[in-house]
Amino acid sequence: METIVKGMEGVEAAAEIIKNGGLVAFPTETVYGLGGNALDPEASRKIYAAKGRPSDNPLIVHVASVSEVYPLVSAFPESAKKLMETFWPGPLTIILPKSEIVPYETTGGLETVAIRCPENRVTLSFIKASGLPIAGPSANTSGKPSPTEATHVLHDLNGRIDMILDDGPVGIGVESTIIDMSGEVPTLLRPGAITLEELSDTLGKKVEIDPAIVAGGVNEGIRPKAPGMKYRHYAPNAKMALVTTRLLKEKDYDVSEEERLQADRQVSDYINELVERDEAEGLRAGIICCDETKALYERAQGKASDIKIIGHRSEPLSMTHELFRVLREFDDDKVERIYAESYSDRGVGFALMNRMRKAAGMTELLADEK
Ligand code: TXA
Ligand code: MG
Repeated sequence: METIVKGMEGVEAAAEIIKNGGLVAFPTETVYGLGGNALDPEASRKIYAAKGRPSDNPLIVHVASVSEVYPLVSAFPESAKKLMETFWPGPLTIILPKSEIVPYETTGGLETVAIRCPENRVTLSFIKASGLPIAGPSANTSGKPSPTEATHVLHDLNGRIDMILDDGPVGIGVESTIIDMSGEVPTLLRPGAITLEELSDTLGKKVEIDPAIVAGGVNEGIRPKAPGMKYRHYAPNAKMALVTTRLLKEKDYDVSEEERLQADRQVSDYINELVERDEAEGLRAGIICCDETKALYERAQGKASDIKIIGHRSEPLSMTHELFRVLREFDDDKVERIYAESYSDRGVGFALMNRMRKAAGMTELLADEK
């Protein structure tokens, strides 16, 4: 049983554990991380083992300030510095060429290193107290939704780590945006709360999107630049499908009020029908919808084992905040089928939909073409 310590109280003890080669789970504004000394190959090996993670999947190195980046990189372009000064501490990870002190065990064998400065006072103090860069992937079992509360960490990693720093539920709920600044062209490797638009505005130039993001990272022939994006991810135990309409997709979810109402009706009718079919076969089915559409699922009330409202679709951050918790609750409730509405990819919606598509193994059903 780990020691779980709330707030700032555990900071000194956590730093001691890191200095002695141990593992500490820590809060951030995105998801909880699983930390070890980033400069110690043995600590990185322990992290992979605790998560059951393939060791070619590199770790993110957490620092407490921009000045701590210098020893970790062999090149530090002004553009990368500008991003750090604009968005740190915050949910942005930046890839740069690594220096010699960063072991390949931490970078999964790559010549580059991913660095981020999280916005959480407990964790910033913990990094400073340890005096070391902290390697930290999300603190979940590999393949499962990332942990957004300390209890999720305990559920996945109980007995495999030395301590959990608990600072309550996270604010954002999906992992940081990753941008590759190691080459000529800035490239988005993972969408998060810092949007593509914000990045290109700050850099004053276009940011490319790694094709693997759009393909979901599971298609043959497309090799994602962020190795982690190729694995099945965020997967609930249930089989999950997204439901939308051809029209919504064609119009990029930018539709008239009337079209919106019609699409909502088509999507909810189809989901209700699928749930009824599953329940008739004795399968437990769950629904993911939003505040704006919840009334349309009354038919499934009492039939669906679980109807989860994940937030307001007009505010994607309200939904990123809930998504992983909801997926974990479906597991706890032994739900076998999940049907989720699809939402717009605009702004933070891109990060939300990226995680939802992966959770659904890229399965999307069209309610107007069934
Ligand atoms: O919000 C976050 O970023 C959280 C918190 C704990 O900071 N961390 C997190 O780490 O999500 P993780 O390990 O679950 O995801 C890291 C992703 C993986 O997809 C990995 O492949 C990619 O970052 N990555 C790390 N180093 C990389 C590198 N040098 N080049 C390309 N991708 C890299
Ligand atoms: Mg992860």
